[in-house]
Amino acid sequence: MGMFQRDQQIFADAAPLDDSYEPEDIRERDDELEKYQRALQPVIDNRPTSNIFLYGKTGTGKTVATKFMLSHLEADAATYDDVDLSTVWVSCENLSSSYQVAVALVNEIRESQNKEKISTTGYSQQRVFDILYDELDALGGTVILVLDEIDNIGHSDDILYGLPRARSNGYVDEVRPVIIGISNDFKFRENLSPKVKDTLAEKEILFPPYDANQLRSILKPRAEKSFHDGVLADEVVPLCSAFAAQDTGSARQAIRLLREAGELAQANDCESVSEDEVRDAQEELEKNQLYEGMQELTTQGHAVLCALAYHQSLEEVPIRSSDLYERYTKICERLDADSVSERRVRDHLSDMNMLGLISVYEHNEGLSAGRYHEYELDVPLTAVLDVLLSTNRFKDLADIIESTADDNNLLQSDLSDY
Ligand SMILES: Nc1ncnc2c1ncn2[C@@H]1O[C@H](COP(=O)(O)OP(=O)(O)OP(=O)(O)O)[C@@H](O)[C@H]1O
Ligand SMILES: [Mg+2]
Repeated sequence: MGMFQRDQQIFADAAPLDDSYEPEDIRERDDELEKYQRALQPVIDNRPTSNIFLYGKTGTGKTVATKFMLSHLEADAATYDDVDLSTVWVSCENLSSSYQVAVALVNEIRESQNKEKISTTGYSQQRVFDILYDELDALGGTVILVLDEIDNIGHSDDILYGLPRARSNGYVDEVRPVIIGISNDFKFRENLSPKVKDTLAEKEILFPPYDANQLRSILKPRAEKSFHDGVLADEVVPLCSAFAAQDTGSARQAIRLLREAGELAQANDCESVSEDEVRDAQEELEKNQLYEGMQELTTQGHAVLCALAYHQSLEEVPIRSSDLYERYTKICERLDADSVSERRVRDHLSDMNMLGLISVYEHNEGLSAGRYHEYELDVPLTAVLDVLLSTNRFKDLADIIESTADDNNLLQSDLSDY
């Protein structure tokens, strides 16, 4: 038998559990879709259309709702001879400035016309904006520009000044650009300057997190398509929905959980997916989240974590903050990095506590000893070492900690409960 065999038991078609899958209908978003429809109606009526700004946390359906609305709008616009509509979609996920967004828009337009793309560097910003205006004018009619995950451009938001005013400023005259901005970062929206907010966010649509019932209704049709009949126990979809609702209210998370549970059942050669697989999948995903949380810490955060891991490997935990701080400064010296104050280190520790990476114990021993804090890891040492080993800077230290822990036989037991 081969190492890989096609599964016949669990999944009938895994595509509906994929992130790129486009569902036939958008569920539980009637109010939002109605607002969206009203905002886009002027396109069909050949009236000036406001810019639209969608915001809401990750996995709340902003992207999927926009794809859905635009495909309907495009199909319906095509039935009117006098409606000239084009749409340009740019995901700003890997774009960090207005310059890059402008280049991406130009190239998206050029690509759809089989024209040569422009270089992503070497122009002045004004030159790229001018090229963009020319491309837009050449398209004419209404051009909807979707800037998905626009928060990635941070403060470099010139394009959000420029584009909405391109027509009134006389940069374009054949085209009516309409911007749909999408963001899951509430701070980005708050920090938009009043001028940008006035134009970009003429129409705002908020996508709130889903509750468990809504997630259930979103999951159900996908579950039916994805799994063979009778494979899913009744409580699987409700449990996935409940876990995701408790945590983030993200449909993406709920779908991932369902897929992960199915994959676990498949890996274990089960004939069905039950509550147990969902609980295991949830644990697995939580672990990944912790891992990501650790990876995203700054160098200072990693140094603090490294100091704590060292004491953990010596079995000297919980450890008082003054002792931990001493270790931390030594680590910084060794790394040739600047160290921060003990107070800042305590801030890092309290951030890590919030991320669920470490435990903090507060002691109040009266006047003599005073108040102090003690710390220990709340995640397995091996997980911390994995993260530190994956960085260039901490690799050597992590090797030392690993062998110390090994000498103390800490890693075996640690591994088994990870
Ligand atoms: N109301 C819904 N009906 C059906 N499927 C949905 C619905 N909402 C979300 N989904 C599905 O959940 C997943 C996440 O949705 P989507 O990508 O639209 O989220 P988002 O708000 O754009 O998140 P992010 O801010 O992370 O980009 C997708 O697979 C999408 O198809
Ligand atoms: Mg999205």
